[in-house]
Amino acid sequence: MNWPQHVKVKEVGPRDGLQNESVFVPTEHKIAWIDRLSSAGFDYIEVTSFVSPKWIPQLADAIQVARGITRKPGVIYAALVPNMRGLELALEAGVDEAAVFMSASETHNRKNINKPVADTFPILREVVNEARSAGKSVRGYVSTVFGCPYEGKVDIDRVVRVADELFAMEIGEISLGDTIGAANPRQVEAVLEQLLRRYPAERLALHYHDTRGTALANILVSMNMGITRFDASAGGLGGCPYAPGASGNMATEDLVYCLREMEIETGVDFEKLMDAARYIQEQIGRTLPSRNLLACPPQTTTEGDGP
Ligand code: HMG
Ligand code: MG
Repeated sequence: MNWPQHVKVKEVGPRDGLQNESVFVPTEHKIAWIDRLSSAGFDYIEVTSFVSPKWIPQLADAIQVARGITRKPGVIYAALVPNMRGLELALEAGVDEAAVFMSASETHNRKNINKPVADTFPILREVVNEARSAGKSVRGYVSTVFGCPYEGKVDIDRVVRVADELFAMEIGEISLGDTIGAANPRQVEAVLEQLLRRYPAERLALHYHDTRGTALANILVSMNMGITRFDASAGGLGGCPYAPGASGNMATEDLVYCLREMEIETGVDFEKLMDAARYIQEQIGRTLPSRNLLACPPQTTTEGDGP
């Protein structure tokens, strides 16, 4: 097996994790969660989305969240941006990186951003150019790489078409999304074998949802093939409201626990990450899918305990 020494874990919980939650999480709790995540040592946090509040009401407070966090030096605070309106707001709010997004499959792209795939490229090209002129870095997501909730299996040629177009816009990194958590390790191996012939591993990240419990297995296979960048969401929150059946992302603490035990560095303090995961679990008010949250519930002091 070919294990890396270091893996970069990008925390996407405040965006991907919360966007699927129907009960509004108060702005100050979102901010407090993000600040806990930066204290845990993440140097990349996707904090919100500058999308239409009609489409994603949970993140309607994007500006207040982005402005309210306590900025820790060295941390990249990123946000999802679908169009020029989103970019204007993101720049106003002072985010460090814009993450543009689209799908490899036609139907999910239309359901998610209300545009055909072909019409999305010129919109994103303008966003990328403007973001770069404003001195911001840009990340690109390709969704439905391993399966579409509407079309089923997605041909690798369609993934390549979208990734080629995004890289041609001079996007630094592309995150490949298993939007509905359908991928399996053999499929990951086959897809990455093809993609790694075209793009260097350093420019690819993997974004696995854990709908069917295969995310960690898929990450291990990806790592073994040279990928060292993974998105994850504290507590295992997450999902796309426009991808029926999609549930949480890989839980960050389950990934960080596994990497720590494998002696692979992440720069993340596991205990502080657990505190951040417990905090958001408390705010959401139900048990989240994370295995480590289940394994290590908060210590409660019962009467009669102690000296
Ligand atoms: P549309 O309705 O076609 O947009 O939506 P429009 O351009 O026709 O504008 C309609 C109205 O929205 C106008 O307002 C605009 O100003 C406003 P009105 O005149 O009616 O008052 N508007 C905006 N407001 C705030 N911010 C904006 C914005 N843009 C327009 N940026 C649009 C098109 C893209 C806006 C919409 O479809 C949308 O917001 N979609 C986002 C859906 C979403 O966030 N999905 C989840 C994220 S993707 C994901 O989870 C996958 C990922 O995790 C990877 C993976 O797992 O695979 C990344
Ligand atoms: Mg996602």
